[in-house]
Amino acid sequence: MIENTYYIETWGCQMNDLDTQRLAGQLRLRGFRPVSSDQDASLILLNTCSIREKSEHKVFSRLGELRELGTGGARIGVCGCVAQQEGEAILKRMPFVDFVIGPGNVGHLDEVLSGARRVAVDFPAYRQYDHLAVDRPSPTKALVTVIEGCNKNCTFCIVPTTRGREISRPFTEILKEVRHAVSTGRVEIELLGQTINAYRCSSSGNDFADLLRAVAGMEGIKRVRFVTSHPAEVTEKMIGVMRDHENISRYFHLPVQSGSTAVLRRMKRLYTRERYLDLIAHIKREIPRIVFSTDLIVGFPGETEEDFQQTLSLMNLVRFGSLFAFKYSPRPGTAALRIGPPVDDVTSTRRLRQLLDLQEKIQKATLNRYEGETVTVLYEGPSRHDANILSGRTDDNWTVNFKSHLALLPGTLVEVRVSSAQHYTLRGEALP
Ligand code: 5AD
Repeated sequence: MIENTYYIETWGCQMNDLDTQRLAGQLRLRGFRPVSSDQDASLILLNTCSIREKSEHKVFSRLGELRELGTGGARIGVCGCVAQQEGEAILKRMPFVDFVIGPGNVGHLDEVLSGARRVAVDFPAYRQYDHLAVDRPSPTKALVTVIEGCNKNCTFCIVPTTRGREISRPFTEILKEVRHAVSTGRVEIELLGQTINAYRCSSSGNDFADLLRAVAGMEGIKRVRFVTSHPAEVTEKMIGVMRDHENISRYFHLPVQSGSTAVLRRMKRLYTRERYLDLIAHIKREIPRIVFSTDLIVGFPGETEEDFQQTLSLMNLVRFGSLFAFKYSPRPGTAALRIGPPVDDVTSTRRLRQLLDLQEKIQKATLNRYEGETVTVLYEGPSRHDANILSGRTDDNWTVNFKSHLALLPGTLVEVRVSSAQHYTLRGEALP
């Protein structure tokens, strides 16, 4: 074990990725340095996810593995949504854990490091967020929080419990952070929030469309992404801002969860199948080049075969560029527990397989269409597997691995002719 070193493991969403960057930044300011092995670290942090039961189980089995290091003198901290959900119980179950710190207290790491608190799972009205103390691993891209928490009441979801009620960061503070990120070479900004398009600054009254416009209009920003939007909060103004700014990504993550209105109603998603499809059609008319991605759940209580077929049919209508699909997982304290038991596991597994097979076909056909085309790629750096191959992403979020005769700086936009489509990526050569 080496004094003043840390090791962080991160599960879950981009919010957690950013929370890890914030924890790392605070540790750096306190004189800690990162190490690549848990064996060497004097401080081990697990930044956890509890969106599904499986992710939560992984945390406890991982903690079991860390028992020896914990009793051998390394300090162990549990952060993230499992920390929030379980709180004190983690210390009881795993006595070698030193502290528990929830998502509302990421900026308050000092309090647990100094020993002032062992369990920090409240949601302070004032959330310390020092944008100068964020360790951003990517030289080209910065994640920036816009809004924390969620006020929706989707019956399957634990996020309102683990991340608290919505709280929007002040408009000027967000812009200050973005400006700083740009000054350090980050040309791509990804704005984050659980329900990002519910953003509203309480002092200025600015909404998410205002924020998008301000960020996209800032000098030096080549690409703006944002996750996650709720379909019921998409406004005409927001669509207009997206349409009018070429540097706002044409890749729009809009979770639908199910293609059946009956299921959507039980999920309390606040829209019907028809309203979702109308919204998609409307956005496509306004921004013809747009590509959608989505999240889907199979096996929600009461989901019939007919409901599931509606989900497949919706996928065929929208043709998502990519999607994340999950088997419904009952979560503690959620309203869906009262609706009924999940669909049996054999059926859910079959439905998930069927859904993923369909998506693979749609995706393959979509990718094949790029062969011979020229795409604009934001160059991120050499490929992880081969330093002679460069890697970056298209606006619609496909990874492109390519060769270039010219030396390129990360963060450059480059035209690449696509020679072939792989399973999930494109290959090509940069145009001179
Ligand atoms: N079971 C399965 N999937 C879930 N998600 C959220 N809660 C659950 C749950 N209880 C999925 C949703 C959400 C994504 C982040 O995780 O699809 O959009």
